[in-house]
Amino acid sequence: MGQVLGLGVSHFPPLSGGDADMANILRGRLADPDIPADAKDPARWPAPMQAEWADPVDAAARHRAAMRAGLQRVRRALADFGPDFVLIWGDDQYENFKESIVPRSRCLPTRTARSAPGLRPRPRACSMPTRRTSGAVAGETCGASAATRRASCAATARPPSTWLRRCWSRTQRPRCGERTMSDALAFTACLVAVARGLGEKLPAEARLAEDPYGLLFVDAPTGSLLRHAPPLCVTPYWPLALHLQVRTRAIDDALRHFIGREGRQVVILGAGYDCRAARLAEELHGARVFEVDRPATQARKRGVLESAHVQSGDVQYLAWDFERKPLDMLPAALAARGHDAAQPTFTLCEGVTMYLSARAIDDTFAAVRLLSAPGSPFVFTYFDRVMLESPTLPQAMFNAFVASVGEPFRFGWIPGELAGWLRDRGFARELDRPIVELARDLLPPRLASWVLISQAHFAIASRQRE
Ligand SMILES: C[S@@+](CC[C@H](N)C(=O)[O-])C[C@H]1O[C@@H](n2cnc3c(N)ncnc32)[C@H](O)[C@@H]1O
Repeated sequence: MGQVLGLGVSHFPPLSGGDADMANILRGRLADPDIPADAKDPARWPAPMQAEWADPVDAAARHRAAMRAGLQRVRRALADFGPDFVLIWGDDQYENFKESIVPRSRCLPTRTARSAPGLRPRPRACSMPTRRTSGAVAGETCGASAATRRASCAATARPPSTWLRRCWSRTQRPRCGERTMSDALAFTACLVAVARGLGEKLPAEARLAEDPYGLLFVDAPTGSLLRHAPPLCVTPYWPLALHLQVRTRAIDDALRHFIGREGRQVVILGAGYDCRAARLAEELHGARVFEVDRPATQARKRGVLESAHVQSGDVQYLAWDFERKPLDMLPAALAARGHDAAQPTFTLCEGVTMYLSARAIDDTFAAVRLLSAPGSPFVFTYFDRVMLESPTLPQAMFNAFVASVGEPFRFGWIPGELAGWLRDRGFARELDRPIVELARDLLPPRLASWVLISQAHFAIASRQRE
């Protein structure tokens, strides 16, 4: 007896659009003169729809994450079933069957199939897929040919030229149309996650903060290769891996100190693939963690952790682009997820300030002031502005490398000016130390000398009373 497994997936809303555009479908309907006015009146909509419409970008990100998780579940079910063949009905709408719109010539039996999910024209070229005409490649929109799109991907992606690029491009492949800063996956988030994951290859006395999840963020073969590589092979990555060990340990210790004093709220801004909530799940004693990052990076993180069945304790995710979405709305959005601004909050901004504009930095500190009760710590890392304005040759190469992946360094403080800058914004500087200096405290001298980014700082500020 043959067995048949039936699987159904929605084709709407399209994953090829950006979160900011997803509500365009509804916006189009609201502008449709043929739809009665009372049906277009938000006050008459069901409560869940009103809630989604209040913040459509956030709703889109959550919906996208749920949809991706659902699609992954369907894909796993298909793999588990191990079919002899797969029959795919595309766009199985009423007309296709009833009016025979799909002619026999469009049935395409094939032994192998290559799919390119997410391939699409450059962002904003078109916000809605055009209605598919016969013979179009799945996901093709606006009539751009696949070859044109691949060329445009290659032109806009500008990947770095190292072995890491290959790991990265594999993780990026499904989304290679998205290389704008607005909603692209963060390469640097992947880079630091992997560097943290490589901590397990360091000598025992250098393992200050082990991260068993970091290598999940490269594709499976690369992750496995790195996991099984002899420690000697990763020596070229020691400078970054050791830097991350020191930075991670300093932050973990500050967080432990906060939790030890009954702190129960943690906000991680630009969380990327930081798996602190999972790594320190037990030590957090049930503290609620709020992770904020751009939608694409956050959605990928959630997908990766869910696929690997990683338990992260009490984590609330909030998709937010600090450059595009007003940060004065952030405290209210966190409150809607259960954050209490009257209680102490540990806010972390690790490896993020250097990627933001001066305006976003100002707005971030203003938002953190609003969401923090007096005395709350704000832990952040930053670059001495010298590194951006007068870099040494190795620093200039490093700066050029991150710029080449579309995430240029944009912001730094002059350390001597930080205390005054913070005071003007309602914070007191509690600590400010170069990471190389922390390395000398935490590592044996022969290993501390591998930590090279001399202009990177670790700082703690505390929120002052009004
Ligand atoms: C180098 S990664 C650091 C990630 C994480 N904090 C860590 O240390 O592992 C920089 C992070 O900043 C985030 N980021 C950069 N620009 C941002 C923006 N405009 N809005 C929100 N997040 C942003 C990126 O998405 C990325 O996750």
